[in-house]
Formats: sequence, C-alpha cells, structure tokens
Amino acid sequence: MLRTAIKKFSSITKGGESYIEKELIYGANNYSPLSVVLSKGKGIYVWDTAGKQYYDFLAGYSAANQGHCHPKIVEAMYSQAKTLTITSRAFHHNLLGETEEILCKTFGFDKALMMNTGVEAGESAVKIARRWGYEVKGIPANQAKVVFCSNNFWGRTIAACGSSDDPDRYKNFGPFTGLNFQIIPYDNIEVLEQALSDKNVAGFMFEPIQGEAGIVVPFTGYCTKVRELCTKYNVLMIADEVQTGIGRTGKLLCIDWENIKPDIVTLAKSLSGGLMPISAVLAKNDIMKVLVPGSHGSTYGGNPMACRVAQASISVIKDEKLVENSEKMGRIFRERISTLIGGQISEIRGKGLMNAIVIKSGKGAWDLCVKLAQNGLLAKPTHDNIIRFTPPLIINEVQLNESIDIIIKSIKEL
Ligand SMILES: Cc1ncc(COP(=O)(O)O)c(C=O)c1O
Repeated sequence: MLRTAIKKFSSITKGGESYIEKELIYGANNYSPLSVVLSKGKGIYVWDTAGKQYYDFLAGYSAANQGHCHPKIVEAMYSQAKTLTITSRAFHHNLLGETEEILCKTFGFDKALMMNTGVEAGESAVKIARRWGYEVKGIPANQAKVVFCSNNFWGRTIAACGSSDDPDRYKNFGPFTGLNFQIIPYDNIEVLEQALSDKNVAGFMFEPIQGEAGIVVPFTGYCTKVRELCTKYNVLMIADEVQTGIGRTGKLLCIDWENIKPDIVTLAKSLSGGLMPISAVLAKNDIMKVLVPGSHGSTYGGNPMACRVAQASISVIKDEKLVENSEKMGRIFRERISTLIGGQISEIRGKGLMNAIVIKSGKGAWDLCVKLAQNGLLAKPTHDNIIRFTPPLIINEVQLNESIDIIIKSIKEL
C-alpha cells in the first residue's frame, strides 16, 4: 500500500522517494503534496533535492511575497536571533511598540495586536467582535452571532471549522452548535442585509477575494456595499486579508481597490516574508479597547524576532515597490493567459498577482500541476479544475513571460 503510494509519486523529483517515504511513515496524513521534494529557495525560484530549479508560483500560499530568503529579512532575523528572541508579554521589549506603530501607520489603523498564525488572527478577530458586541453594541449575554460566507477559508481551528461549509474541514470535528455562526452566500448583498439586520450580529468576517475557494472575485462594489451595511446595522466589518493583503492583489490591502476601511483587518503570511509565522489584527481604537489584560494573548505573539522580521518584511514591500509590481505583472499575466480561453481553459480571473485558471475538463488541475512541475513551474490546484497562480511579487517581466511560456507549453502537452 505504502509502496504503491510512493511509486505513484515518484516521477517529479529524482530520488525523492526516501523523503516522501519518511513522511508517509511518520507524519500525519493531513496534506496531499505534489511529489516534489524541495531543499532550497532564492527569490522566485526553489530547487529540489536533485538540483532541479522551479519557478515557485505558490510562494508558500502567498507567504513569500518578498521572494524566498530575502537577504534583508534574513539579515534582520539573523541579527535579532543573536540578540533577543523572546520575552513573552510578561515584560516589555524595545521593538514591540515601534512595530505596532509601523503596522498601524502602514495600513491605516489605530491599534495592532500581534499574534502568530493567520488562523489565530481570525480567532482573535472573532473574540474581539463578540466582546465588542456585548460591551459596546449591547447584545444580550451569550447571544452574539458572527456571519461568514460560504466557501470561506481561514484555517482549521475549531472556530474556523465551525464557520466552514466544506465537509473536508468540519466532518467529525463537531459539535459546533454553540458557536452561533451563520454562513451566507458570498458576493450576495441581499442575503447579507437580511443576516446583518439581526440585532445580535456582532461581526461579518469575509475575504475580499476568496483564496482557497479558487480565487473568487466578487462584483466591483461588493466591499463598499459590505461597508455600508455594516455601518447601517452597527456590525463590525472584518476583512480577512491574510492571503489578499500586503500587495498580493496589486494594492497594499485588497479592500484598497474600493477605498474603504473595515473595522478590523487580519494579516499574516507575508508579514514575515515566509520566514516564520507572524500575524496581526488591526482595528480602530474603540474596538481594540475591549481587550484588557488577561483576556487574550500568546507566548510568542509580538516577540522581538517577529517584530524585527515584520519590520524588514514591510520595508521590502515598500522599498522594492512590490505593490506596484504586483499590479503591473498581474495585468500582463491575465492578458497573455486569456489568449488561451476557448481551448482547454475556460476562465482566467484575479487581481494583481493573485490569479487562477479554470480548466474545462473536470479533473484536469492535478495533471496540469504535475506537467507544470515537470516543465519547471510549481503551482497547486485549489479544486479539481482550478489552479491558483501566486508567484512572489518580485517577479520581473522576463521571468513572468518565461513562466507563462511554461504554462502555455504544459497546457498544450496535457
Ligand atoms: C484567507 C485566509 N485566512 C486565514 C488563513 C490561515 O492562515 P494560517 O495558515 O497562517 O493559519 C489562510 C490560510 O491559507 C487564508 O487563506
């Protein structure tokens, strides 16, 4: 059985079977990776254990927006690793306040809460919304409701599973009944208005573009309508920008496309340039003030190393004009790939460098990803027929065109 599984995966990285075999024997079977075994990364490239070079068109699910092992971020991490790595929040340290200031000023909020993973940022946002619901909005005790969208993805904790309508996420992990979450269709303002008119709703959490759902882009004006309705019904608008944020969609935040300000934003992934888990919740003053000592925290949240790495990661985004590059390269990508529509591809969609293609034949995405890997480009299906393309934002035009050539060649070979 194991041998069969390994044999099935043996074709991409030469000699990679021994690494895969150890994972199969000793690791939890909670992922189904493509059968490449990577051992090195630099900029937009990764290399496998056999030395084969690939364009990385997943970039750690957008964690490596600044490119792999960016020298400035690595240097920040290295020098801080030799200086002070952890204090816990039992003591102050010299980098937390200035990092919170950079986060607030960069993204336009009053207060920042630093955590570690994206899902923790989501959990924190839900906690803040509920407490705000009781203490500011006046929702009766234990009645607070939070509204989510169908096909959302924000991680796999109990709360995240409890807000999901994907059986892969929630099956046999229940019960979730006490969470008082409501799931409504994405990209649908009428249903949203109905949901938010319930006076016990504290927050509406959504992705400005749904990532794991397959890069689902709502109609232009959706975020503006969400803002209007959240204001009308006194509900906190929570934008999950864990994947869309920090330049990925060609704006610093994806909601900047509509020039609106949510009440809460969650960030993670490329807040560290792919070096370590760092996340943040950003909010207005009168919302974040519901957190008081003892109500929330994390041993590693806001540690000195995370602070230095986050500062360096944000600097790289600004100094190298990666937001602008994402927008420019994204246009070129969609323009060239759209010439394939009508053949095996039925759609290309996205913003900036967050794009996906839809393949006509029902289950072709996996096979195309294998073909792409064989031809030197790594991407991952998000569904049977959808492939997401999210290269590091540092990609230049020559590299992008070379990558598109690989994609076109691979589609033809399929
Ligand atoms: C939109 C969104 N939110 C939250 C998360 C969870 O982030 P993490 O895996 O760092 O917990 C993800 C992960 O892919 C995501 O795409």
